[in-house]
Amino acid sequence: MCGIIGIVSITPFSVKGTLLKCLKRLEYRGYDSSGFVLVDGTASKAIGEISSIMSQVNDSLTSTTGIAHSRWATHGGVTDTNAHPHFNTSKTLFVVHNGILENFQDMKDKLVKKGYKFITQTDTEVIPHYFDDKLKQGNDITKAIQSFLKEAKGTFAILLMQKGSNILYAIKRDSPLVLGLAKDKFILASDIYAFSDETNKAIFFEDNEYAIITPDKYEFYDKNGKKTEKKIIEFEWTREDETKEHYKHYMIKEIKEQPQVSLRLINSFETIQNDKLNKLLELMKNTKRIVFIACGTSYHASLVGSILLNHLGIYTSCIIASEVESFIKFDKDTLCIAVSQSGETMDIVTEVKKAKQAGSKIASIVNVPYSTIQRMSDVSIEILAGQEVCVAATKSFTNQVIVMLELARRLGYKINLKHIPKKIQQTIAINEDKIKVISNELASKRDIFVLGKGMSYPMAREIALKFKEIDYIHAEGMMAGELKHGTIALIEEGVPVISLIPNNNEDMISASKEVEARGAHTIVISNIEGKGEIIVPKCDDAEFAIYAGIIGHLMSYYVGVVLGVSIDRPKNLAKCVSVR
Ligand code: G6P
Repeated sequence: MCGIIGIVSITPFSVKGTLLKCLKRLEYRGYDSSGFVLVDGTASKAIGEISSIMSQVNDSLTSTTGIAHSRWATHGGVTDTNAHPHFNTSKTLFVVHNGILENFQDMKDKLVKKGYKFITQTDTEVIPHYFDDKLKQGNDITKAIQSFLKEAKGTFAILLMQKGSNILYAIKRDSPLVLGLAKDKFILASDIYAFSDETNKAIFFEDNEYAIITPDKYEFYDKNGKKTEKKIIEFEWTREDETKEHYKHYMIKEIKEQPQVSLRLINSFETIQNDKLNKLLELMKNTKRIVFIACGTSYHASLVGSILLNHLGIYTSCIIASEVESFIKFDKDTLCIAVSQSGETMDIVTEVKKAKQAGSKIASIVNVPYSTIQRMSDVSIEILAGQEVCVAATKSFTNQVIVMLELARRLGYKINLKHIPKKIQQTIAINEDKIKVISNELASKRDIFVLGKGMSYPMAREIALKFKEIDYIHAEGMMAGELKHGTIALIEEGVPVISLIPNNNEDMISASKEVEARGAHTIVISNIEGKGEIIVPKCDDAEFAIYAGIIGHLMSYYVGVVLGVSIDRPKNLAKCVSVR
């Protein structure tokens, strides 16, 4: 949800090769528009993916200080003018911002009364004018930052630069911000991935902290201007080849990486993650209530975990993070397990903070190390999926489900995880050609229904979500049993219904027959030879969820290929949603 970059360097850096390269690594956070400004005032903005701005920049352009931004629009449409960086009227103060300034209208009204003219519809434009005003009143920038931290409401990671001065000012509350310590330069970014090919040394900002970065030093301060001591973290980041290799899209590359990626995770359970898993089990055993919270695809993985644990008699609930307060109140007897690929989703971060304040223990299952959610956790399991570039989650989802299976295994569920990587590989190899044919038919459909039960129900939702986010086809993933209570009215001749039927599940067979009788075109995914259009390897219901999910991901991918849509970066989406 917006990516920000700032670089201060001893020696000049290439704008294209360094500043925009780092920004490109944050493109998954938003790609409505992008822009940059250099210390001498050279600036550029463009609508669309970062490649459009890259094509405007000369290879030889260098600078010693600069800031850049990739936008996911919140306030104001997707236009050149609304693209960041934003500036004051005399174009001497430049700002990039990730987050939402909640009281921007109040702040703007005050500035307008003083004669400030606004040219954008963004909340961010308030910031350069605010600092301009404070400086004109005789404050220095640090005093202005302290006032800003008192007056501003909302979430922000802000980089501020003054024309002609090789200093970056960085301010953070709630939105993520980290400083990378590279050989001859400092890189401020929304996450460590932005600079993980330049350095593995980083300092994370705390809320209401600001920093002043010059070419040769950095200093951090709390909101009152008191210097804070910071710890340098040396991070490890599981690296995959970051190119698309011979694949046309990251999505298919990431789907096909799953045999290796799942093996790496499964091996880690007995080695580097063993102690953490034991700690999590201890927390689970010593609490009265276990609640998973998650959003989007991660919610579907959590739901598999929750259902599986309930089967084992370990009662858990699973709640979409933005609706937690409708269902529970955290207390000291609750264990909150936050599941998030990015570890930054604001709906989850907000609830984890509330849970912590209420005395709940926090566990997390994340992909991105040192993410906000991981750093707030008492224990955090990593899914070790490596960087996932495609906005839609695939390999991270499979690995989240595998973590759920491992937790269940350690609590008594009989399963051998070691076979999973091989079976994933078989699932893809045996079915890919058939899926291409089926996807050709699905591509022309207006609606798709996906039915599941038990541990396949979350998969029905996950598969439907993928048809929506990748292919823009209306899809509903539902509990098969609920079909007859209303939705069956929508079933007519030729409507595609994907039925997830593991181990000849009788209820699922009945539901499938009921829609078939009304003319639906059913596509059965089964793990029993001869019992469906798509057959995955023999397995129990929990493991079936993994293979069915992979089939669904492949279908949505190949439908996207037929439709010629922007598969890796679907419209209106961002991989990391760091606003509420
Ligand atoms: C966004 C993404 C989804 C993702 C969800 C949760 O909406 O587009 O693909 O599932 O966020 O993200 P998280 O990083 O918390 O798993």
